[in-house]
Amino acid sequence: MRTQVAIVGAGPAGLLLSHLLSLRGVDSVVVENRSREYVEARIRAGVLEQDTVDLLVKSGLGDRLTAAGLRHDGIHLQWPGERHRIDFHALTGRSVWVYGQTEVVKDLLAVRADAVHFEVSGTALHDVDTDRPRLSFVDREGAPRVVEADVVVGADGFHGISRPTVPHALRHTWERDYPYGWLGVLAEVPPSTDELIYAWHPDGFAMHSMRSPRLSRLYLQVDRAERIEDWSDDRIWDALATRLGLDGWTLRTGPIVDKGITPMRSFVSTPMRHGRLFLVGDAAHIVPPTGAKGLNLAVADVAVLTEALDAFFTERRTDLLDGYEERALRRVWRSTHFSWWMTSMLHRSGDELDAQLQLAQLRYVCSSTAAATSLAENYVGLPHDTGR
Ligand code: FAD
Ligand code: DHB
Repeated sequence: MRTQVAIVGAGPAGLLLSHLLSLRGVDSVVVENRSREYVEARIRAGVLEQDTVDLLVKSGLGDRLTAAGLRHDGIHLQWPGERHRIDFHALTGRSVWVYGQTEVVKDLLAVRADAVHFEVSGTALHDVDTDRPRLSFVDREGAPRVVEADVVVGADGFHGISRPTVPHALRHTWERDYPYGWLGVLAEVPPSTDELIYAWHPDGFAMHSMRSPRLSRLYLQVDRAERIEDWSDDRIWDALATRLGLDGWTLRTGPIVDKGITPMRSFVSTPMRHGRLFLVGDAAHIVPPTGAKGLNLAVADVAVLTEALDAFFTERRTDLLDGYEERALRRVWRSTHFSWWMTSMLHRSGDELDAQLQLAQLRYVCSSTAAATSLAENYVGLPHDTGR
């Protein structure tokens, strides 16, 4: 097989890149080791920045998003006895949209599934430091296949094979594992709030999000070593009611249809480019989920890389490809800082000094327009800088 861009991974980053390239007449092939059903059902992020939404709409993926997505103009920050709204729209003129990553992936697969080889195994990249890189894999029927390309893109997430293809001696990583994780549940119950609630509590952080007017998404800070088997539905609802509780407000409960625990880490790996291999999304960086940056950062990488590949294939320009890593990393570090900051402000560490500092910071963010604006402009997302 021969293509212009060979992409490893049919998550949001790989599929979006393939879609945006096709709109510009650039050919791509995507390989994915899971099944289409699995990829479409994986529950993850839920909040889209304004620029993410604008990009999806502009590329023809706005039908379901604009019909079913929920525009949110703010969030609530809470600590015992107090709940305050941060008004994004008043502070920045921008908003975010609640629309599940699963739905984004379904929308992308509706237009790009033909370009994807699902359920492959043994994916490997070859000769990425030459101008004839190759991707090899074993297809669903067990036949060995090779894709020759001009460029290969690693969009295969944190555990993929693309990042390790960069020689170890050239790689630099910055990493922090947090001592806690998020227990996430999806529940068939109308949300008990109009906008997301991020709650600091002595028992640990809790958050109330949603997926639709009938589906709530909720999170609890738990110890990193906790096992989901030890959290019955009743125990989860009790903890959520305590941590999110406020006089005059009631948490509605209902059947939990999905639950799981996600560890939390900050991670950045460079280089994001090695020869003709480019890394996008979780393959190069991970943020803790507080602040909902992971998916949006993957989309921002793709926006930058699309412009650079377009300039390369249509005008034979290499300057934007050469600038990809620097441009992408600037946003990666900003989002890494914001996600770390939100995480540090809201999660219990067990240290009493930390607790007082967190409460002081929360009161400041909720009372100073300058501090609230800083949170708001990071949350809604700084504008994409694609180099064009
Ligand atoms: P991925 O979505 O990981 O996609 C990578 C794809 O590559 C996958 O389909 C994988 O199957 C495939 N793949 C891997 N290895 C290979 C291989 N060798 N060959 C072929 N294919 C391969 N972000 C938020 O903002 N909010 C959240 O609440 C949130 N929750 C999360 C919960 C979990 C459990 C995880 C893991 C992440 C969460 N994130 C969240 C982060 C967000 O989902 C990611 O940032 C986003 O999925 C990144 O997209 P991606 O396409 O770069 O990577
Ligand atoms: C969701 C996830 C986040 O990490 C966040 O900060 C807000 C919402 C969600 O899954 O809905």
